[in-house]
Amino acid sequence: MRLDIQVQPTRPNMAAPPVSEVIIIEEIQVDDENDGKGVIALVCINRPNKLNALNDDVMSGLKAMCNWAENQNQIKLVIIKGAEPLQPEEGKRAKPNAFVAGADISEFAGKKSNDIRQSFKHNAWEKIWNLSKPTIAMVDGFALGGGLEVACSCDIRMASSRSKFGTPEITLGLIPGGGGTQRLGHLIGYGKTLELVLSGEMISANEALRIGLVNHVYEPEELLEATLKLARIIASKSPHTLKVAKKVVRASLELPISEGVVLEAEEFAQLFDTEDKEIGVEAFLNGTRTTPNWKGK
Ligand code: COA
Repeated sequence: MRLDIQVQPTRPNMAAPPVSEVIIIEEIQVDDENDGKGVIALVCINRPNKLNALNDDVMSGLKAMCNWAENQNQIKLVIIKGAEPLQPEEGKRAKPNAFVAGADISEFAGKKSNDIRQSFKHNAWEKIWNLSKPTIAMVDGFALGGGLEVACSCDIRMASSRSKFGTPEITLGLIPGGGGTQRLGHLIGYGKTLELVLSGEMISANEALRIGLVNHVYEPEELLEATLKLARIIASKSPHTLKVAKKVVRASLELPISEGVVLEAEEFAQLFDTEDKEIGVEAFLNGTRTTPNWKGK
């Protein structure tokens, strides 16, 4: 594990991302022509020979990435993807495309409940879920088990048409353990969640789109561009307002509607005291076409 390796900060006033062999982070400008609009972190889970399966190194790398992304003002949004397959060795077949094909099953052998309790405490799925900034999972290939749970911990899921989704843990005598039984239910409902969890069967990208598991499906060669397009639209908004929007929508998962609408009204009211509301309203009234220079407060 090489999480201690630090590359030179690529931008002023920004800490270098935590890099490792299994987590590679690319910084993409929100606005190509204006460096001041911040960056999108494109995070790649890089274990292509194991279909990007989640081992301890990947999980610690994802947690380190979340700490870094949360604390860098210049990071506006995080996209998580899986590495593409490598060129196969001669005579060997190519590995399939994967977002993440689940937890690394080889790390399950011999483990007992106490090991799992320990490693699942403060886990990466919760870290991603609790990021205050917007997150997008860009799925091109298998998103299974813990991989599907990474996607479900993100706010938005974009998928390629060749992607496949499922919770195959049941075939190992297990159930999802990274929040899948809970977060899937909110996305696709009780019945569909139980069908996936109890059968372990995979569904296609189109079926995932039909049941609301993914937001959009594109051809593989169009996926990155479409994802970045949406990411840039979101990332160009006030970071403070984005945070509030995410918090309030998220609250709807836990609060009764009678309390949720009260929270929403209060957060809406509080935004009227922010500089960004003045900036946004003025930009509209002046017919300014460029993205405002948000203050983030
Ligand atoms: N953990 C560890 N290794 C995994 C893995 C996982 N979850 N998923 C795939 N791999 C490894 C395979 O062992 C294989 O390694 P090898 O080439 O060193 O033998 C490599 O990734 C390629 O996978 P392979 O099974 O050969 O590809 P395939 O196209 O035949 O099948 C899948 C693809 C996704 C259907 C199949 O790999 C699979 O079922 N994976 C496990 C999915 C799962 O149960 N996830 C939940 C875990 S809780």
